[in-house]
Amino acid sequence: MHWDNEYKQQKHVWGKGPSELAVFTVDFFKQHPLPAETPRIIDLGCGYGRDVFYMAQNMRCSILGIDKSPEAIRMAEDGRPKKSKSEIKFERQDFLALPTGNKYDAVFTSNIYHLLRPDERIKFREIINSILNPRGMLFMSVMSVRDPQHYGIGTPVAGESNSFVDKVYLHLCAEEELREDFGFLSFKELQENPYDEPRANGETHHHMIWLLAGEKSS
Ligand SMILES: C[S@@+](CC[C@H](N)C(=O)[O-])C[C@H]1O[C@@H](n2cnc3c(N)ncnc32)[C@H](O)[C@@H]1O
Repeated sequence: MHWDNEYKQQKHVWGKGPSELAVFTVDFFKQHPLPAETPRIIDLGCGYGRDVFYMAQNMRCSILGIDKSPEAIRMAEDGRPKKSKSEIKFERQDFLALPTGNKYDAVFTSNIYHLLRPDERIKFREIINSILNPRGMLFMSVMSVRDPQHYGIGTPVAGESNSFVDKVYLHLCAEEELREDFGFLSFKELQENPYDEPRANGETHHHMIWLLAGEKSS
C-alpha cells in the first residue's frame, strides 16, 4: 500500500509539527468554542497522528484518529504523549467503511478528499454527514486547482475534470465544486491558502489548499 511504504521509507514525511488545517482549527475553536465541555472529534486519515497530538494539546477534547495504514497507526501509538489533558485514541480503520453509530462534535480531515475517486467522495460526504452531531463542524483541507505542485502533472483521468494520476490519483478542487459537494453544511470559512511543505527527504513542496470550516444544520 502506497502510504504504508511512504511511512516506512520516509518516517515523519511531513515533520512532526501540525498541518495548516490543525492550526486553523485550533484558532477557530478559540474564537468559536463548541458547546460541549469536552468535544468529541474524529480525524479521518490521521496518518502518524501529528494533528491529533496538536489538537489534544491545545484544546480539551476527546479525539479519535483513524487510518487504514498499519504503519501510520503504529507510529501514532509510538508518538503518544505521556500526559495529555485530552483523551486520545487511534484505530486502524477504513473511513469509507466507518460504522455511523458513533457521533462527533467535529470531523477533521487533512489532505484526504483529493485522494478519493468520485464514488468514494460521495461515500465520504455521506459518512461525514451521518457522523456529525447537529451543529457539529467539519474542518477539511483539500488541494486547489491552483496547486502549483500537482495541477496538470501525470496522466489526466478520462471523463473527469481536474483529476490526474501521478504516483497516486489526485482530484484537485474548485470553489464552486466544494460549495456544491458540501451543500449540507453552512460554510463558516472557505479560504484558499498557499503554503510550503518541507519534507523528510529534504525537498520542499509548494501547495495551494482550501481550508474549509462548515457547520451541520440542527
Ligand atoms: C496525505 S496522507 C495525510 C495524513 C494526515 N492527515 C496528515 O496530514 O498528516 C493520507 C492518509 O490517508 C490515509 N487513507 C487513505 N485512504 C484511507 C481510507 N480509505 N481509510 C483510512 N485512511 C485512509 C492514508 O493511509 C494516509 O495516512
